[in-house]
Amino acid sequence: MFNKRIKNDNKVIVPFLSLKDVTKQHKKELYSAVCQVIDSGMYLQSKENLDFEMLYAKYIGSQYAIGCANGLDALSLIICAYMELGILKKGDEVIVPANTYIASMLAVTKNGLKAVLVEPNYDTCQIDDSRIENAITSKTKAIMIVHLYGRCAYTEKIRKICKKHNLHLIEDNAQACGCMYVNESVSKRTGSLGDAAGHSFYPGKNLGAFGDGGMVTTSDSTLAETVRVLANYGSSKKYIFKYQGINSRLDEIQAAILAVKLKYLDSENDLRRKWAKKYLENIKNPKIIFPKISDSVSNVYHIFPIFTENRDTLQEYLFNKGIQTIIHYPIAPYKQKCYTDWNRLSFPITEKLCKEELSLPMWPTISEESIDYVIKALNLW
Ligand SMILES: Cc1ncc(COP(=O)(O)O)c(C=O)c1O
Repeated sequence: MFNKRIKNDNKVIVPFLSLKDVTKQHKKELYSAVCQVIDSGMYLQSKENLDFEMLYAKYIGSQYAIGCANGLDALSLIICAYMELGILKKGDEVIVPANTYIASMLAVTKNGLKAVLVEPNYDTCQIDDSRIENAITSKTKAIMIVHLYGRCAYTEKIRKICKKHNLHLIEDNAQACGCMYVNESVSKRTGSLGDAAGHSFYPGKNLGAFGDGGMVTTSDSTLAETVRVLANYGSSKKYIFKYQGINSRLDEIQAAILAVKLKYLDSENDLRRKWAKKYLENIKNPKIIFPKISDSVSNVYHIFPIFTENRDTLQEYLFNKGIQTIIHYPIAPYKQKCYTDWNRLSFPITEKLCKEELSLPMWPTISEESIDYVIKALNLW
């Protein structure tokens, strides 16, 4: 059965993502979790948050998890906490991949730090670790890696660079919840690989809430405490304000929903990998390029990207066949109007990815017929 069939001029046969379909499977449990919060009369900063923070820290493999309002706040709170602790200061440089979503950069620049952009590797779409050292100056204090598209960006080389240059490693794990980094001696989840990580529970993410939500994970107790205080107006004690903080909370209802959904995250990521395998094995059109395949657990396929020189034509062709696709991302952050000072910068690999990338329909409970329909359409193009 197709997931959705609308017969009219704008027919959608395979949507890009059906959250309704994802939610449907756990409807009873989710209804019950939400009702429990409603009945409890406790809607903020209570049991659901504490329980979910503990569950999430354990799942990620970090000592602390601090709930907040969204993924951008999570990243921003980490930077802000490092600033309050005197580890970062205005004007310091943070290395960020040039092809990331704008939130990673905003977290740096809105706090008065400079984002120094580094090209990705075309084959993996992740920050090119061979280019990082060239971007390091005396002002560089941190590297923010972004596990883009659901794929692990961490490498042993990045760890060594951080150690050699005494840099903090921040992970943007917004797109890679549940992803693993595995080598001969280590098997760890993304979000536990650096000094701190920001996570997003935006509804479309692999672990998505029914609204906004975010989390900071870290095993640094001082950082964790500072993030917690900053996210609560800067208040360490009721009506005592240590910092000029913000109000960034995870609602109790969202925490309860996320605790239910976390139980199914690994099996849902397995399903994403199953569909990715099917795409990879059956799309045979030579005009379509895939990123180089990674170790299976090192990719949770938040999205399934393909690349082609005639991307816009392909998108229109698929649209006419009722297949929805999205571009991640059509314009790089440094080419956006909000960063006019950077518009003259040029990162050819990033710009090539912006021109060629197209994301295919992908969610855990997409039907086999829908995947087959997409494959057939791509092979006929
Ligand atoms: C790579 C990346 N970082 C950060 C964020 C920010 O997350 P949120 O939308 O929850 O603020 C996103 C969200 O799309 C993202 O994709």
